[in-house]
Amino acid sequence: MAEDLHVTAGSKEDQYNNLIPQLVGLLHGEDDLVANMSNVVAALKQQFGFFWVGFYLVKQDELVLGPFQGPVACTRIQRGRGVCGSAWEKGITLIVPDVSKFPGHIACSSLSKSEIVIPIKHKGNILGVLDVDSDTLNAFDQIDKLYLEKILGLIEWNY
Ligand code: SME
Repeated sequence: MAEDLHVTAGSKEDQYNNLIPQLVGLLHGEDDLVANMSNVVAALKQQFGFFWVGFYLVKQDELVLGPFQGPVACTRIQRGRGVCGSAWEKGITLIVPDVSKFPGHIACSSLSKSEIVIPIKHKGNILGVLDVDSDTLNAFDQIDKLYLEKILGLIEWNY
């Protein structure tokens, strides 16, 4: 049974550095993917208060909504569509400082202003994406990219 998450103040790096060992503890000894994805998005939401944070997994050549925290969201995203479908197609992390300037952005909520999408790479495949949305412009940078990619690496992708 997990203990309460210890949420900390400080710089973005401090916050990620506080969170990561706790995630290691939360994920340790558990191989159920839905359980692990659920705790990761809950911990990110608790620590950072992101507007929306969640997973989309590749199923039959489209992205299908997985565990998330935040308002209800689009269920399916085609390859190459929106920020999520583009990150999947290109296989790279996309940082979008202003979603209104991203051609084809899929607005699940009009309150979402900036976004980062990280592809889940495992054994040469892309299994899905982690999508994080903020209700402020320009919320994400290379620090988020670095740490969120690290966090994806903590999950056992038995999918
Ligand atoms: N904005 C995303 C869609 C997913 S929601 O933000 C939860 C996109 O353009 O792919």
